[in-house]
Amino acid sequence: MLNFDFYNPTHIVFGQGRLADLDKLVPPGATVLVAFGGGSARKNGLLDQVHTFLGNRKVLEFGGIEPNPRFETLAMAAEVVRSQQVDFILAVGGGSVIDGTKFITLAASYPGDPSDLFRYAYVSVPLEVVPRVVPFGAVLTLPAAGSEMNNGGVITFQGGKFPIKSDLTYPVFSILDPQLTYTLPPVQVANGVVDSFIHTTEQYLTYPVGGLLQDRLCEGILLTLIEVGEQTIAEPENYEARANLVWCSTLALNGLIGAGTPGDWATHWLGHELTAAFGIDHGQSLAIILPPLLEVRRSYKREKLLQYAGRVWNITRGSDDEKIDLAIQKTRDFFERLGVKTRLSEYGVRPDQIPMLVEMLKSHGRT
Ligand code: NZQ
Ligand code: ZN
Repeated sequence: MLNFDFYNPTHIVFGQGRLADLDKLVPPGATVLVAFGGGSARKNGLLDQVHTFLGNRKVLEFGGIEPNPRFETLAMAAEVVRSQQVDFILAVGGGSVIDGTKFITLAASYPGDPSDLFRYAYVSVPLEVVPRVVPFGAVLTLPAAGSEMNNGGVITFQGGKFPIKSDLTYPVFSILDPQLTYTLPPVQVANGVVDSFIHTTEQYLTYPVGGLLQDRLCEGILLTLIEVGEQTIAEPENYEARANLVWCSTLALNGLIGAGTPGDWATHWLGHELTAAFGIDHGQSLAIILPPLLEVRRSYKREKLLQYAGRVWNITRGSDDEKIDLAIQKTRDFFERLGVKTRLSEYGVRPDQIPMLVEMLKSHGRT
């Protein structure tokens, strides 16, 4: 097992009816900025409930954070935080709103042009650059990105998607009430299952380093996602299935399962370019990339692919190569059964557009 640090200060508040805990979780007397997306939280009544539980605190709103949140929008929100002396931010939404909030709080505390922060994309914004931020919490409405319990965010800037993080961008708390996700359209639930699955494979399908527990944790998440994935799409108000998806999704990217083991985030880097170039949803972009990536990298990933075939897909017959073939096929079939297409052509991307993607990867230093 490799050496590692594991630090995660986010307080998880899980379960039905936990939104009421906002009153205990948000500092009394705080001026609170509620950040949200394109309107689902208002339409389904969640924002009204948030206002109720925030009681007599001064509450401001900033809506319109788009999926794949854009720098320009977030810079405007940062200006509100500064000018209105906001002292707590509450992100209400999915990965995009929570990621966006991480950037908002960094930008609000950074004295210069906030686009400077992209100098620290792929690394961490140093504490010397932004030594403190306005604290924030999250109310999660979409289980997928894992942003509710990590310090990373992915921000769209100048036609690219850039990861940004800092030691200060962990949510203070995240409320995970599976019932708040019942209003999701099936396509977003499917995207969430795929994203959580592939966050796990990015930390599992590499090479063995003797991380026996980490492997079992990853396999537990993958098996659970296979168990509940189709069910939670077909039965959106089945609490048990949805609760398991929510917790899998959070644990897949809170740092635990990959501590002490190597990661391979190539599916994400390629997927980000697909999203930036063609607007393909994050989860969909990953479902396109993972099966062929496993095929191309099969010799490097051989031992873990065989372990995956046996322990996750229960494949016991055939030669080693046949087992790997079948495991990759079963992975693709799983995504397809969730309703997520896995071929570029099904999203209208043509072969002659591939070289452009390679150029984008090069320009982002991701080859
Ligand atoms: O904007 P609104 O109107 O709220 O609608 C959203 C949005 O259109 C809707 N939605 C969310 N909760 C809902 C709901 N609709 C009905 N009922 C609800 N309860 O869903 C749509 C998609 O939301 P978004 O937040 O964009 O999705 P997701 O959570 O999948 O986040 C995707 C973003 O996360 C980044 C991705 O790159 C992408 O930008 N990622 C962040 C990571 C991280 N912070 O660690 C890692 C991930 O790999 C990922 O890259
Ligand atoms: Zn992801």
